[in-house]
Amino acid sequence: MWQLFVVGLLSLSIALRISHAAIVEDSKHFQQFKLVYNKHYASDAEERKRERIFLKHFAFIEEHNQNFTKGLTSFELGINEYADVSEEEFASTMSGSDEIYDYPSVLKQGATFIPPANVELPDMVDWRELGAVTAVKKQGRCGSCWAFATTGALEGQHFRKTSKLVSLSEQNLLDCTITYGNKGCNGGNKERSFLYIRDNGGINAATVYPYHAQLDAECLFDASAIAAKSKGFVKITPDDEDALKAAVATVGPIAVKINAKCFRKQFYRQGVFNDELCEERKPNHAMLLVGYGRDNTTNTDYWILKNSWGVSWGMDGYINVPRHVNFGGIAMRPSYPLV
Ligand SMILES: *[C@@H]1O[C@H](CO)[C@@H](O)[C@H](O)[C@H]1NC(C)=O
Ligand SMILES: *[C@@H]1O[C@H](CO)[C@@H](O)[C@H](O)[C@H]1NC(C)=O
Repeated sequence: MWQLFVVGLLSLSIALRISHAAIVEDSKHFQQFKLVYNKHYASDAEERKRERIFLKHFAFIEEHNQNFTKGLTSFELGINEYADVSEEEFASTMSGSDEIYDYPSVLKQGATFIPPANVELPDMVDWRELGAVTAVKKQGRCGSCWAFATTGALEGQHFRKTSKLVSLSEQNLLDCTITYGNKGCNGGNKERSFLYIRDNGGINAATVYPYHAQLDAECLFDASAIAAKSKGFVKITPDDEDALKAAVATVGPIAVKINAKCFRKQFYRQGVFNDELCEERKPNHAMLLVGYGRDNTTNTDYWILKNSWGVSWGMDGYINVPRHVNFGGIAMRPSYPLV
């Protein structure tokens, strides 16, 4: 009987040591995370709450990546600056594309993209290599993705027109498109923004009208410092990935909208993303399509998307998603500005 008791004690102490080691290990990861992303919390209670969220995400990412190692999934996840934010918090502030009201009347004002005839499209295109894409930006806790997709597409067309790459002002769009039906950090829409830039006679550069992830009380557009202009927008046939391919290959970066609700929580790191949940064609997040390619090891064709969640997310701020399945509704509402 006593032997059993000793064995029991021994295994209890081993279990305790292991769980203690795990706690020390976990706390080390959280300390590292705080250091890397320069995190400071207002109170101890807040810090404990953030640590709990972080550890939950950490375990999920580890498990997912074990599946990746086993070949069960096509992409990896990784800790990034959003690891202390719950999924719900993240979802409520990090997308923000909204059809809002009267969208059909906005769309009617767009020109129609006609795919070029008599050309053979290349197997891969990457406008980053051609100098048409600015550095990855960060929308912060503001549902302003629509403004970043707008500037990204216009930056590309402006570059193609002038050979000059200029980072354009999202804050200009945030503050000045309320009368066009956009709602600042609560969502908005790229086509309305293209129309504003057309009617306004242009948009300021990001250096002139810097972004600060909050709606200002007034529009501070500086008419003496116009950085780029637009004559309206062109819409690509909805749900036609061949037309989308032709557009991004021959025109430049295209503003798209996609279902980002399930970018494997917010921890995509690299590989061709895939998630059954995300195939649902309910776009809620505007992004910039900058090209396409093919993964030779898995034989997967993919789109290359620039996000506005900073460089700690994804592949230095980018994500690859599958082609040919209208993934997350990516081909539902693509457009680009006319310059
Ligand atoms: C890992 O794969 C298993 C088996 O397919 C699955 O049940 C589990 O949910 C996966 N884990 C994650 C985090 O995706
Ligand atoms: C994939 O294969 C194609 C055709 O064989 C080739 O042109 C391309 O360079 C390959 N891509 C990579 C990344 O190896």
